[in-house]
Amino acid sequence: MVSIDSIIESELRAPTIFKNEAALDPDYVPERLPHREEEVKLLASYFKALVEAPGEVSVRVLITGRTGVGKTVTTKLFGSYFSELAWSRYGVRLKYIHINCQKHRSLSSVLREIKNGLGMSFPDRGFAPRDYAEAILEYMERSDTYAIVTLDDFDQLTRQLSRDELFFLVRLYDDIFRGRRKRMSFIYIIRFGLGSLYASLDEGLGDYVTRNLITFKPYTSNQLRTILWDRVREAFREGTVDEGAVDVIAEAIGVNNGGPGSARTAIVLLHRAGKYAEYLAREGKGPLRLLPMHVRHVMPTVDDSLVQVQEILQSLSVHHLLLLKAAAQLLLETGEAFVRIGEVEERYRELCREIGERPRGHTKVYEYVMDLARRGVVVTKKSMKGRRGRSTYIGYNASPLEGLIRFIDEQLGIRRGW
Ligand SMILES: Nc1ncnc2c1ncn2[C@@H]1O[C@H](COP(=O)(O)OP(=O)(O)O)[C@@H](O)[C@H]1O
Ligand SMILES: [Mg+2]
Repeated sequence: MVSIDSIIESELRAPTIFKNEAALDPDYVPERLPHREEEVKLLASYFKALVEAPGEVSVRVLITGRTGVGKTVTTKLFGSYFSELAWSRYGVRLKYIHINCQKHRSLSSVLREIKNGLGMSFPDRGFAPRDYAEAILEYMERSDTYAIVTLDDFDQLTRQLSRDELFFLVRLYDDIFRGRRKRMSFIYIIRFGLGSLYASLDEGLGDYVTRNLITFKPYTSNQLRTILWDRVREAFREGTVDEGAVDVIAEAIGVNNGGPGSARTAIVLLHRAGKYAEYLAREGKGPLRLLPMHVRHVMPTVDDSLVQVQEILQSLSVHHLLLLKAAAQLLLETGEAFVRIGEVEERYRELCREIGERPRGHTKVYEYVMDLARRGVVVTKKSMKGRRGRSTYIGYNASPLEGLIRFIDEQLGIRRGW
C-alpha cells in the first residue's frame, strides 16, 4: 500500500507549470493595468476637486462596460492610489470603499459596508437609514475624513431598492445633508448599457448619476496580448508558455475578431489551458509547456456567457444554486426552452435530499426564482402557448447547460467545504 506521506510528497514533487497560480484568480489585483491609462486619467480628473477643495463637491462618476473589461480592478487600483496620494501629498484623509452590490443588496447593507469601510464602530440594528447616514456623516466630520464609495454592479442594487431608497442613496447631499460639507463621493459601476439603468431609475435620477461618464470598451486582440503576457509573467514559471498559446487566446477573445473582448474570459482560458498542460505533463503525455493545442482543447469549455454569469453565481446562496441546478438539469433532459416551476421545485427537493439540505418551502422557492430572474441569471414567463393553466416557466439561455451545471457543482463544493 502506498503511504499517505509518500502520496503527498510525490504530489508536491510533481512538476508544476505555475509559479503563482493565485495571479490567475479573477479577484487578483495586478500591479499594472495596461490599456486603462485613459480611464485612470479620467477618474483622476473627476476626483481632483476632492483634494483641491475638499468638502466643496460630492463627485459622482458612472462607469459602464460589459463583463471582464476591467471596471472593478481599475476602480480598486485607482481608489487605493488616489487615497494614498490624497494623504501623502495633500494631507486629506480620504478612504476608498469598494462595495460589491451583488453581495450587498439592501440599503442597510450598503450603509453598513460604508460604516465598516470607515472603521467606525456603531451598532447596526435599530436605526432608520437616515439616522444611520447621519451617524456616519457625524463620524466623518469628527474625524475629518472623506470617502469615495464605489457601488460595484450598481444595476443589481437598482433592481432591488425601492424608489425612495434609491433617491436616498443618490441624492444624499442634495436632499438629506443639504448645506453640509460634502464628505462622500460615489462611483457607480453598471454592467450593461445605459438602457438598463434608465429602465430602473427614473429620468431625473438617471441624469443625476450620468453626468460624469466613463465607458470601458471591450479589449482588442493586441490589448489582450499585453494583459495576458503580464499575467503569464506573474503566474507561470519562466519559459513554460508558448507565444502561440497566448496568441490563440488573444485572437479568439479580441473584439476585433468578433470576440467578447473580455480580459476575464481570456484569463480564465489561460488558467484552464495551463491546468490542462500541467495535467498532461504529469501523466507523462507531453512537455511541461503551454501550447496552442492546449488552449484549443479547453476553449469549448470556457464559454464567455458562462464566464459572465459565474461572477453572479459566486454570490448566490446554496439554495439558489440548487434551484438553478434543478432547472438546468430539466432543461437539459427535456431539451425544452422553458420548464414549469413545479417540476423544478420537485427536482430541487431531490437535490436537497441528496446532499442532506433541508428543502425550503414553496414560497421561498418562488422568491429564489424571482431573485435569479432579477439578477439576470434565468428568464421567467407566466404562461406558455398551447398549455393550459397559469404557471411560471423558467428558462436559461446564456450558455451550454453542461458547463453551467459543472460550475454550480464546483460552487456547491466550495460553499459546503467539500
Ligand atoms: N487592463 C487590464 N490589465 C490587467 N488585468 C486586467 C485588465 N483589465 C481587466 N483585467 C483583469 O481581468 C479580470 C476581469 O476584470 P474586472 O475588473 O473584474 O472586469 P469587470 O469588473 O469589468 O467585469 C480581472 O482578473 C482583472 O484583473
Ligand atoms: Mg466587476
